[in-house]
Amino acid sequence: MTQAFYRKWRPQTWDQVIGQEHITTTLRNAVAAERVAHAYLFAGPRGTGKTTSARLLAKAVNCLAEDPAQRPCNQCEHCLAINNGRFMDLIEIDAASNNGVDDVRDLRDKINFAPNQGRYKIYIIDEVHMLSGAAFNALLKTLEEPPAHAIFVLATTEVHKIPATVLSRCQRHEFRSIPVADIVAVLRTIVEHEGIEVEDAVLPLIARQATGSLRDAISLLDQLASATESITLEMAQAVLGTTTGQSVVSLIAALLGGEAGRGLDIIHASLDAGADPRQFARQVVEYLRGLLLIRAGNADQVDVPAEMRAEMAAHAQALPAACLLAVIRAFNQAAAGMRNAWHPALPLEMAFMEALEAPAVEPAPAPAAVPQQAPLKRATNPQAAPAPRPQKAAATAAVDAQAPTSLASQWEQILKAVRERNPQTQALLNSCRPLGMKGNTLVLGFNGDFAKSKMESGEHLDILQEVMTSVLGKSVPVLCVVAPGGELPPDIDQNGMVATALRDLGGKIVDIQ
Ligand SMILES: Nc1ncnc2c1ncn2[C@@H]1O[C@H](COP(=O)(O)OP(=O)(O)OP(=O)(O)O)[C@@H](O)[C@H]1O
Ligand SMILES: [Mg+2]
Ligand SMILES: [Zn+2]
Repeated sequence: MTQAFYRKWRPQTWDQVIGQEHITTTLRNAVAAERVAHAYLFAGPRGTGKTTSARLLAKAVNCLAEDPAQRPCNQCEHCLAINNGRFMDLIEIDAASNNGVDDVRDLRDKINFAPNQGRYKIYIIDEVHMLSGAAFNALLKTLEEPPAHAIFVLATTEVHKIPATVLSRCQRHEFRSIPVADIVAVLRTIVEHEGIEVEDAVLPLIARQATGSLRDAISLLDQLASATESITLEMAQAVLGTTTGQSVVSLIAALLGGEAGRGLDIIHASLDAGADPRQFARQVVEYLRGLLLIRAGNADQVDVPAEMRAEMAAHAQALPAACLLAVIRAFNQAAAGMRNAWHPALPLEMAFMEALEAPAVEPAPAPAAVPQQAPLKRATNPQAAPAPRPQKAAATAAVDAQAPTSLASQWEQILKAVRERNPQTQALLNSCRPLGMKGNTLVLGFNGDFAKSKMESGEHLDILQEVMTSVLGKSVPVLCVVAPGGELPPDIDQNGMVATALRDLGGKIVDIQ
């Protein structure tokens, strides 16, 4: 089996790390002066070199080269062992794969033993923001008094989730997104070494698509190169979905026609043909955004081929602004929620079904007959439409700001446990947001009726409640409401902590430290 490009092209020396000179210079100097810190935090966007730099540091501090300024040498026994992934004193913990308590405990038990092979034991904790509260506390104890032979490198894409107590004990380095020109240069080197033929415009296209992540860029190149000997622009565009495909236009036509079956067929056919579901969702959003611009009178800002303009103008006319916004939200969420969807087509299917429910989208309307400003569907008022479960004292209680705080931190855990019971229940929960507590009741906001009624049917609510009882140690009633785009149901305190968090964080509940 051939090795994935991004592995094969992982930098082995500081010089090969692109775009992070502000960091590599500091680390290099520290190694040369033999003054390495005991805890580092590498923060920054995905695929920008955090893990790579952590491994380089591990190699440099253990390298056997005489001159510290030449470390890592990539020739000594230790450098080679690290390059081959068999150096016993380099311990990598992925906090994303479990919440880390056991790993961190294990780490605490073993950390005081001297290194097996090298000078230093290096602990790289990837995605450290995913550690549970208990694991963070355990880690903190270790960071307070690390043994002289230990070095920690914590890596994260979400530095705002790291407790201040941990931050204050680390030397912090901010990794930057890689500029398009730098990405193109790396891709060009790879292409030359691998003997891949590419048309001129392909590499810049890939680089833009990667939005600052060198790993993504290299993976996209890998994907294209494995499909063909020579990569044409046309092929790259087709695979990367950078031209607005006919399928997107057809999907919107199906939406306007209220044709559920045809819409789902279009989605399935595109995915079967190899389209990337996240890319497809983004394309739909991009197209809808174009419609929005046209409606706002900014048609000149829409960058599409001339032959598509007429069709777009017709679609823009047929979808009132408020309805457009609801549809954009649905697909935007599909693009964002793709990562934890257990079935790749599901977020798209749900977005489409929700879009169909936008009030102005009714079966086969003549465009002229569509009202220009259909009101957005109001959030379902739970008092008017009670969920099937009894809601004690739900009507008058104010939002309890404490409960969501602890709930937010446990929500991930709840989702995981739910997944073990029924992945579909988890998929449904991924499409909603815990909005907050009303009295003792947890309010879940769904983007539309489709997802909400799915959640309320079958065993889904029962599973959620059983899991919550075991995770939270008490039973918590659940109320499902329709709350598009994080909009709060009218009877949740609009100024409460949950409301503020939802607004500030773009509708997502995260840990509140
Ligand atoms: N700054 C960089 N210079 C050179 N190559 C890079 C750089 N950043 C990423 N790469 C390439 O991408 C691959 C993955 O990088 P790495 O694992 O270091 O990213 P990361 O920042 O840890 O990402 P994540 O946050 O997703 O874990 C590397 O093997 C390398 O091929
Ligand atoms: Mg990493
Ligand atoms: Zn060496």
